[in-house]
Amino acid sequence: MQNLSRRGILTLGAALGLAGVTAPSPAWAWSSAGSIAGTDTVTDPWKVWDDTTDPLVASLLTNGQVPAVNTAFESWIGNGDALPAGLPAELTAYLQRVNRLPSWADRTRLNRAGRFNRRMSMYLFLLYGLGSGIMSTVIPREARNVYWSEGGAVMKSRAAKTFTYGYDLSAPDAFQPTGHFVVTSAKTRLTHAAVRHLLPQSPRWRAVTDDQDFIPISNGDILVTFHSLGTYVHGKLKSWGIRMSAAEEDAYLHQWQVALHLLGVRDDFIPASWAAARQQSAYVLTPIMAPTPEGIDLADILLGLTSEVDLGVTRGFQREFARYVLSDRIGDWLKLPRDYPSRTLIEVGWPAYVAFREGLSPIIPTGFSLFDGFVRGLAMLFLNNGTSATYTPITIPTGNRAG
Ligand code: HEM
Repeated sequence: MQNLSRRGILTLGAALGLAGVTAPSPAWAWSSAGSIAGTDTVTDPWKVWDDTTDPLVASLLTNGQVPAVNTAFESWIGNGDALPAGLPAELTAYLQRVNRLPSWADRTRLNRAGRFNRRMSMYLFLLYGLGSGIMSTVIPREARNVYWSEGGAVMKSRAAKTFTYGYDLSAPDAFQPTGHFVVTSAKTRLTHAAVRHLLPQSPRWRAVTDDQDFIPISNGDILVTFHSLGTYVHGKLKSWGIRMSAAEEDAYLHQWQVALHLLGVRDDFIPASWAAARQQSAYVLTPIMAPTPEGIDLADILLGLTSEVDLGVTRGFQREFARYVLSDRIGDWLKLPRDYPSRTLIEVGWPAYVAFREGLSPIIPTGFSLFDGFVRGLAMLFLNNGTSATYTPITIPTGNRAG
């Protein structure tokens, strides 16, 4: 709401001929002392976009070069692959600069994260898919951006592309030459830059947005989404009592730190520890979650996509599981239907299932096969997308939502 009033004041200011009138922005008080950069400064990430990438992609779009770039990108998948031939020279020069790990990346920790992801894969698929994926629909800016951008009308392929990112990040060799994640990140960063150029041209998005100065996907917005992914999943694993060594927790964070860097987030915003991440999350994510018409529609579509696959559970069970991992508050916002018998089963059965899987209880719980089929089915949904047969490459959009 603060941003709406900022925009209102800007409009009023323009009408009155008061160039440069700005409303006070919401104060950002998270000190970068807790960041990778470790500098004790306070900079507002909602006013930082991606200066390295945005002008380049704007020019590619304006010159009609993006379709050819997308075609050239089809064969560019592995981190160790040479850059494709025939790209515009400025894009090649850009990729030569950014398509690499930051100097502070630690390969030992990244490899440890890869092994941890493999051990955690069942929980990760479940939490990224049903938890983070649905949480994204109660992050108002993200929901509106996704809804009104090109992919908003074709959520199945959009979800598949997002799976590609999650799958590539979680692969054991994600950051190695055989892995895909560095390249996938570069394509995602370019995609976000395209959205920054395109969405402000959408009258339908402009009518609903509260984005400051009409430019979406700031560093602040990306941090919010990171907390709905990494910080949320880490917190859930802890609260479920999953065994994690301190080194594994650190590795899981480190993988996300590098991922944020590759998406163009500045080092002075990237939390250096889980404590700093939790503090930042409480500050940036928790207070802004809210329902929007776009988010309610997207959640229904996303949950519907998951229901297309037979997970051995009812639709009511699946919706209740989403409520269970996200909270009833979010479930109510998204108008997820209630199924109280399934909820009782989940409340009792899921902790028992986790305890058994983690070797904390020798007793095979009632409902074991139900929960096992459910998590395995969800994992297969991700894995099928991650195999080359159905691999859905990330492409840079050239327009906004058509339908
Ligand atoms: C596209 C990941 C943050 C809005 C994508 C894609 C990926 C991705 C993998 C390409 C797949 C596709 O085209 O759908 C991420 C990650 C983020 C993040 C990992 C943070 C950690 C955000 C934020 C917003 C956003 C904060 C908006 C506030 C979009 C939009 C698209 C997109 C609108 C383009 C969809 C289209 O082509 O129509 N993102 N994203 N993303 N992302 Fe993000």
